[in-house]
Amino acid sequence: MEQVQKAKEHFGKLIEKQLERVAIMKKGEEWIDYKTLKPIIIGVIGGDGIGPHITAEAQRVLEHLLEDEVKKGKIEFRTIEGLTIERRAEVKKPIPDDVLVEVKKCHVLLKGPTTTPKRGDPWPNIESANVALRKELDLFANVRPVRVPAQGIDWMFFRENTEGAYALGPFGVEITEDVTIDFKVITKPGSERIIRLAFDYAKKNNIDRVTAVTKANVIKTTDGLFLKTFYEIAKEYPGINADDWFIDIMTAKLVDTKRRTQFKVLVLPNLYGDILTDEAAEFQGGVGTAGSANIGKRYAMFEAIHGSAPRMVKEGRTKYADPSSVTRAGAMLLNHIGYPELGKKLEMALDICGQFEKKLVMTGRSTGATGREFCNYVMETMADPNLEKRWQEYQKA
Ligand code: IPM
Ligand code: MG
Repeated sequence: MEQVQKAKEHFGKLIEKQLERVAIMKKGEEWIDYKTLKPIIIGVIGGDGIGPHITAEAQRVLEHLLEDEVKKGKIEFRTIEGLTIERRAEVKKPIPDDVLVEVKKCHVLLKGPTTTPKRGDPWPNIESANVALRKELDLFANVRPVRVPAQGIDWMFFRENTEGAYALGPFGVEITEDVTIDFKVITKPGSERIIRLAFDYAKKNNIDRVTAVTKANVIKTTDGLFLKTFYEIAKEYPGINADDWFIDIMTAKLVDTKRRTQFKVLVLPNLYGDILTDEAAEFQGGVGTAGSANIGKRYAMFEAIHGSAPRMVKEGRTKYADPSSVTRAGAMLLNHIGYPELGKKLEMALDICGQFEKKLVMTGRSTGATGREFCNYVMETMADPNLEKRWQEYQKA
């Protein structure tokens, strides 16, 4: 049958590409050392919808914090235009070539949300820009913290970011009108590097437990490899307890107030990580409050975990969009490039302004503050010499 032959050829090409990718991974690229760079180039990508607005606010906060470093020539901000759904639809690519060239000239990126079309949307069904950037820049670790001190929640998620159900997301096959097949890829080196990062993080922060989340009882081959690799690597960290859960029961246990406080560091394949981190962020105040770091050995990208909210734009509410998530991503960026004190300061101010004191509240409409007003509030809060004391007080509450 012709369809079968075509599908086989398609599958063959996918396998070849994955084998090439594994060969590159096995060479083991070195981690970039930001201390050796002058300047560290921070590329700012506004994205679509509310993206340019909230990202500009986050950039204003970062520029304020890094003012001296910019003057000293240690940091450079660069705006990258053109990663919009209109441009991507026009060139029918998730990342226009000229944008990718500019992106690769930067060391780290601060990125607003970008529209991800799905089948049936008015846009061509191109791949998500996030996912394409993660793969293109090999940003294999999606690191997502969720903290709700008052409820004893302190989780760090290590979501694998370049493989799993996402690796070949746009490359499934419609064999006939009735039969469609997608692919899931998990590789040994791809699993090793994310799992090792999770254990290293636990070790560095004196955390005695790392939990893997899979569905290895059903998805036996790929999730099976991830889990097997997890327990192999766990042996290298004798002081850390390793355990594993299935994604369904883990999703349930995150709402079990007695059980959930016991989880600390979680490591999981791509799609499970996508879903579980949205659920987790909800306890902290919603996806609008969570930041996300996409870490690779050469590049890193920090982004909001929510979407581009085209409805807000259509209804003229852009200026009321909450810049917390992308600003929190900015704090993670500061930590990552070697300014942990500044990152901590920004995180504390965001906690105070968004979770505790709430002198200004974002409602997404004219009943609440604008993004600009909120970031002014964050900057005023950071300027308070008693910032840390204030933050500590709230941690006890
Ligand atoms: C995320 C987002 C993306 C993802 C979308 C926008 C493609 O949900 O960063 O979690 O699925 O990874
Ligand atoms: Mg998601």
